Amino acid sequence: MKFIKAETLKQKPDFNHLNFGENFTDYMLTMEWEDGVWHEPVIEPFHNFECSPAMLVFHYGQGIFEGCKAYKNDKGEISLFRTKDNLIRMNKSAERMCMPQFDIDVVFEAIKELIKVEKDWIPTEPGTSLYIRPTMIATQPVLGVRVSRTFKFFVILSPVSKYHPAEDGNLPALYVENHLVRAAVGGTGEAKNLGNYGASFYAFAKAKANGYQDVLWLDACEHKYIEEVGTMNVMFVIDGVVVTPAINGSILQGITRNSVLQVLKQFNYKFEERRISIDEVMAAAKDGRLTECFGVGTAAVISPVGSIAYEGEEYVINNKFIGPVSKFLKDRITGIQSKKYPDDFGWVIDVE
Ligand SMILES: Cc1ncc(COP(=O)(O)O)c(C=O)c1O
Repeated sequence: MKFIKAETLKQKPDFNHLNFGENFTDYMLTMEWEDGVWHEPVIEPFHNFECSPAMLVFHYGQGIFEGCKAYKNDKGEISLFRTKDNLIRMNKSAERMCMPQFDIDVVFEAIKELIKVEKDWIPTEPGTSLYIRPTMIATQPVLGVRVSRTFKFFVILSPVSKYHPAEDGNLPALYVENHLVRAAVGGTGEAKNLGNYGASFYAFAKAKANGYQDVLWLDACEHKYIEEVGTMNVMFVIDGVVVTPAINGSILQGITRNSVLQVLKQFNYKFEERRISIDEVMAAAKDGRLTECFGVGTAAVISPVGSIAYEGEEYVINNKFIGPVSKFLKDRITGIQSKKYPDDFGWVIDVE
């Protein structure tokens, strides 16, 4: 792997006051795909790209990304959480978007090197981390609607604090979107394709304008079954059972979702992966059987929900207080990430 040294290093931001994704470290990882092969990865100073305005990604959205995190605990130990699973998912996204797959081990080792170089950029306060954003874009400068012949893979890093600070008594409100759709079975919802996110902004803006913090998406065919939240999978506790929508081809197969299900199994919680309708959730909310709802994703890990609004009615959950299952899961998963608890699943990879 090539390393190009930066001439000067940036002044680091105040790690106690970080806005998500606004600060970038000194170095980035880049790798080019040309003539049918990936070239050697390069760690080089973070810089702006010079590129053609005709580049395919700008016009037809051939681009994918991932999001994962590196942690530094109070002993200064640095680790990555399930990063290889992100790279496996990225290769699946690449296949769906007609983009070249890469060697997972080569890219994983390159990311580990990048994290080592940038270790001073990893905040240590509880709830903070170094966010890792692997991205791949189509770079051929041509306006024909076709698969690119060249691609750029890059990884940038951003120190982050808590994504959605969850406050007891004031947990976020979800707006159930029953007209606009995020993704349909057969579409690209299961891939982390750039366009999925741009396409979701309109519903998100509508929810925000009405005082809600996020969108709860329904299925594209019947507008009846729960899919997921903006950038999180979603779980409900109904009659003491954790219920989450089954993987169906349109929701993202979240790594946190998978981690949560494995932890629930380990601790003998009852859980179900199945189709769940908005009517079932609303009925359970009405008669007090819905005791918790929470989003699960890399950014917030567990994000408890305070209320759900659907067709003009708003149901408050657990008085907008964090429930016991959310609390347990947040403690357990962040505890595995910070090495407070043993890693029984092989999720944590030491960096040094
Ligand atoms: C649409 C969507 N759903 C769910 C998730 C949660 O996935 P993960 O737990 O892998 O971060 C994300 C975040 O990546 C997302 O963008």
